[in-house]
Amino acid sequence: MKGYIVGDQKGINSLKFVDMQEPECNDNEAIIKFHSHSLNYRDYMILNQWYGGLKPETLIPLSDGAGEIVEIGTNVKNLKIGDRVCVNFFSDWINGPIHPKYFSSDLGGSTNGTLVEYGAFPAHGIVKLPSSFSYAEGACIPCAGVTAWNTIFEAGKVNKESNVLLLGTGGVSVFGVQIAKAMGANAIITSSSDKKLEVLKSLGADHCINYKSNKDWAANVLEATNGTGADIAIETGGPNTMAHTFEAMSFNGLIGLIGFLSGNANTSLDMMPLIGKNINLRGIAVGSVEMLERLLKCMQTNAIKPYIGKEFHFSEAKEALAYMESQSHIGKIVINH
Ligand SMILES: NC(=O)c1ccc[n+]([C@@H]2O[C@H](COP(=O)([O-])OP(=O)(O)OC[C@H]3O[C@@H](n4cnc5c(N)ncnc54)[C@H](OP(=O)(O)O)[C@@H]3O)[C@@H](O)[C@H]2O)c1
Repeated sequence: MKGYIVGDQKGINSLKFVDMQEPECNDNEAIIKFHSHSLNYRDYMILNQWYGGLKPETLIPLSDGAGEIVEIGTNVKNLKIGDRVCVNFFSDWINGPIHPKYFSSDLGGSTNGTLVEYGAFPAHGIVKLPSSFSYAEGACIPCAGVTAWNTIFEAGKVNKESNVLLLGTGGVSVFGVQIAKAMGANAIITSSSDKKLEVLKSLGADHCINYKSNKDWAANVLEATNGTGADIAIETGGPNTMAHTFEAMSFNGLIGLIGFLSGNANTSLDMMPLIGKNINLRGIAVGSVEMLERLLKCMQTNAIKPYIGKEFHFSEAKEALAYMESQSHIGKIVINH
């Protein structure tokens, strides 16, 4: 079969499209024939060696994929051949809070990922895809969708009165708008581009703020919330956007710190607003199998479909990653077979 390996991690061009052996199915595993995959910023980071150091050159990249079951191991009872499925980011995190032991099961990082024709995965980390989702849509949900869901719903305890702040119009943030709106909350999103914000407005965002043309965007968040500030924020920017996010937050609000799109350099960040406002700063690492199942149910109930910005063919993974690098996209980038 054909598949990709990360190579020497010196950038997108390290990615190698190679012939490989089809996987064997162990007793507790199932084999998925992939139809679609989606990219996450982490996949780009891994290819640039910005994510947890060197991986074996033969590591299969990507955490996200959806397809059909073509073989099951002798102990597998929850799946059958022909089932339409997607894979959870952490195969071994089924439920409850995160635990260090789950970190050896993050797909495309510590263990082989999805960017192949056929992959063998532990059956307990495979989730059935409701028939209302295409494979391309299903491939978008496990990493970006679950991260937004975990922050807003599980950690953030969103309600109709909540003001939810999303930074940028990438995969996680667009899911954030959709989930916040499904919960009846007020969704505020920032972007470098007015054109992208027009699309987000059409997806239901209540307040759209250009952070490039408006450096004091936190003041606009306060304005949009009648001076209260955001109750929940998904922090995709990291240390260099955090001071603004502190300013934009309400007293007792929750910041889900998930990424470092603005760089991970040391900054002289003033932590006083965090203390004064009693802000809960919470790290979020994607989520469990049960969170993915709850998100799928919520998306079905509320007719939410992942927003796919652009699709590529399986042979064009480098082009898809270059498109992600250009940050021209909105929402998710999908690779189809
Ligand atoms: N902890 C976790 O579990 C977890 C899970 C998923 C993702 N992440 C992290 O979360 C971040 C977003 O991931 P993603 O896959 O959604 O990324 P993505 O789709 O590649 O999003 C990129 C977009 O973010 C916006 N952006 C870039 N720099 C920004 C900045 N300084 N301030 C605000 N927005 C900025 C840009 O949109 P505009 O042009 O609209 O500004 C850009 O197009 C990444 O750092 C990723 O590693 C973490």
